[in-house]
Amino acid sequence: MRLLVAGATGQLGAGLLETMGEAGCTMIPLLRVPEPGRRTAGRLRPPDPALVGEPVRGDVRVHRWGLDEAAVRRLADEADAVVNLAGQTNWAGRGSDIYATHVLGAEHGYLLARELTALSGRRIPYLYAGSVYAAGGAVGAVAEQPYPRRADRTVYEQAKLLAERRLTALAGEDSPLLILRLCALVGNSATGRTLRRNSLYMLADRWDDLPGGVLPAMPAARVDALPRDVAARTLLRAVRRLAGLPGTEALICHLGLGETAPSVRGLLDAAFTADPERFRRAPRVVSASARQIVWTSQNAHRFLPLTPTAHNALIGLRYVGLDRVFDRSRLAALLGGGLPEAGLGLLAGLLFGPPRRPDAVAAGGSMARFPG
Ligand SMILES: NC(=O)c1ccc[n+]([C@@H]2O[C@H](COP(=O)([O-])OP(=O)(O)OC[C@H]3O[C@@H](n4cnc5c(N)ncnc54)[C@H](OP(=O)(O)O)[C@@H]3O)[C@@H](O)[C@H]2O)c1
Repeated sequence: MRLLVAGATGQLGAGLLETMGEAGCTMIPLLRVPEPGRRTAGRLRPPDPALVGEPVRGDVRVHRWGLDEAAVRRLADEADAVVNLAGQTNWAGRGSDIYATHVLGAEHGYLLARELTALSGRRIPYLYAGSVYAAGGAVGAVAEQPYPRRADRTVYEQAKLLAERRLTALAGEDSPLLILRLCALVGNSATGRTLRRNSLYMLADRWDDLPGGVLPAMPAARVDALPRDVAARTLLRAVRRLAGLPGTEALICHLGLGETAPSVRGLLDAAFTADPERFRRAPRVVSASARQIVWTSQNAHRFLPLTPTAHNALIGLRYVGLDRVFDRSRLAALLGGGLPEAGLGLLAGLLFGPPRRPDAVAAGGSMARFPG
């Protein structure tokens, strides 16, 4: 399969490039035109066998992703699916950027897939990288269903939710549509390479800086995270299956560890046992209620003079401090089994192993960005 991919230079895009060859897929990346002063997420490193032809230039925030007539005609001949991984993952960033990238980007991408379907006479499926965290402060079992209204979402979570709503309203049978809600991504399972050390790595990098040396979390809080290559392999399987689906409705699936996600306490214990020297003092998790964690992570910046780094870190607290399980039964049905896996030891090793330079690029400090 040949995929038109927006967001190829990001963390998940890197995972795709690492795994496309073995999956028999190639990529036509949609890259933004570089702008002075704008930091890009990452870089493609041609010649990469997963890349075919010339990348196309565009921007997901604009109609047709900014592609001209000739580019659209070329893609109608060449692309078999449209994959939207483009994201604004700095949660403390401008709300307008976050909304435009996620909500408009999601919609323009689906309309583009439809146009390619009409031009090519083939059904071109569309995969949108959503986020399990659009669930806001929900705890307990979280289903692969449209999320209900809640008042406790962050700006980023609300944007991911609106993107989903827009897509479910647009879905039609000409282009199959999958909203793949991702859990947190960490580096490559074999090499540890990561584009940045996001907020999950905060547990490792800034443990000794936590006030009082304690982490507030619900007693059975879980960390749902996948290495980027494991997530990418599953995504590629999902997009293949999607191409053969008849459905007229948007399909929503959770891409994560679900019921097998480790507890935050278990993860810290595993890391401490493997390398006690890494910690100045033994990790301590103090019990907090869902309400305390959700409220604090949503509102503290209104009262405290937080730097963007600290603001992001505080939002990240809700991604390690809540006790919830993202159901995977629809993902299992789509894939026909073979759900993604990542053991406690692997995750602890990826997060708490030594930072691996030069690929580990800290963005504004190790806590600055969580992968959303
Ligand atoms: N990583 C996670 O843990 C995680 C968890 C849940 C959901 N997600 C979702 O999964 C997707 C991928 O995440 P990621 O971690 O790979 O993100 P990332 O590392 O921050 O990369 C974002 C990508 O989007 C591109 N991009 C941003 N704005 C764009 C625009 N206007 N037009 C075209 N491309 C644009 C960036 O290109 P430049 O190189 O030009 O900046 C980059 O390739 C996002 O939608 C994110 O919300 C991620």
